[in-house]
Amino acid sequence: MEVIILPTAKQVACYGADVCESLIKTKPAAVLGLATGSTPLALYKELIKYYQQQHISFSQITTFNLDEYVGVSASHSQSYHYYMKTQLFDFIDIDPGNTHIPHGDAVDVQQEAIRYEQLIHEKGGIDLQLLGIGRNGHIGFNEPTSSLNSITRVKALTNATKADNQRFFGLGEYQPTHAITMGIKTIMQARQVLLLATGTNKAQAVKAMIEGPVCAMCPASCLQLHQYATIVLDQQAASELIMQDYYQFAKQACDTLFTQSGEGCTKSYG
Ligand code: GLP
Repeated sequence: MEVIILPTAKQVACYGADVCESLIKTKPAAVLGLATGSTPLALYKELIKYYQQQHISFSQITTFNLDEYVGVSASHSQSYHYYMKTQLFDFIDIDPGNTHIPHGDAVDVQQEAIRYEQLIHEKGGIDLQLLGIGRNGHIGFNEPTSSLNSITRVKALTNATKADNQRFFGLGEYQPTHAITMGIKTIMQARQVLLLATGTNKAQAVKAMIEGPVCAMCPASCLQLHQYATIVLDQQAASELIMQDYYQFAKQACDTLFTQSGEGCTKSYG
């Protein structure tokens, strides 16, 4: 597990966008696993900028989103379909036919989860999975006590997660209680994983993920077992880590070995 601590949330987003850019440049037909929530928003803005500046094209890219609310149609303003369309897909040259998000309004959501898992495998698996983290340590919608061996399925949301996401729903508006989510095994099968976390409200979850035991009570801790997982944090999200000095030292040593240069936002995180 590589832990990178950067001064600001903006730099976290730029770092994440540069990881995506590098992959797309080396593998133009890559399969990207995408996340929602507020954390990746700034990263998506950077990707749109890179596309507009003609650094990258998404024309051959395939995407799979982590999750979708059950009982919510694609046109609902709080659906993850709507989020991806309005935050990324509408602004890049991706083929909508190559973008995949579970259908939360499917008649048989269990069957939809099975279909989704199979499709990921049919497309050759995920090259790079983007992740955020919930305050209770969830990834995707794999809530605490999720099986570490789970695949895409329907999960009930915890009260903590419903409370955290309440801000997106209007007063009195129906708020989903379940989601279709990639499982922890599905996420672990991605060839590379990149988790971004910013803000003090994530500090406890980040500490449990990186320095706690691997356990189902903190689903994100499974990433300790991934062969190629990078965790990018701002200083606030990293504030509870006891080995901060070590992570900073390791990053500086790495930067010295592989000096990077570039322009604008890219390649100047420190
Ligand atoms: C939701 C999503 C997660 C996301 C989490 C944190 O629960 N299913 O994928 O990581 O929210 O969101 P935020 O980035 O808004 O804190």
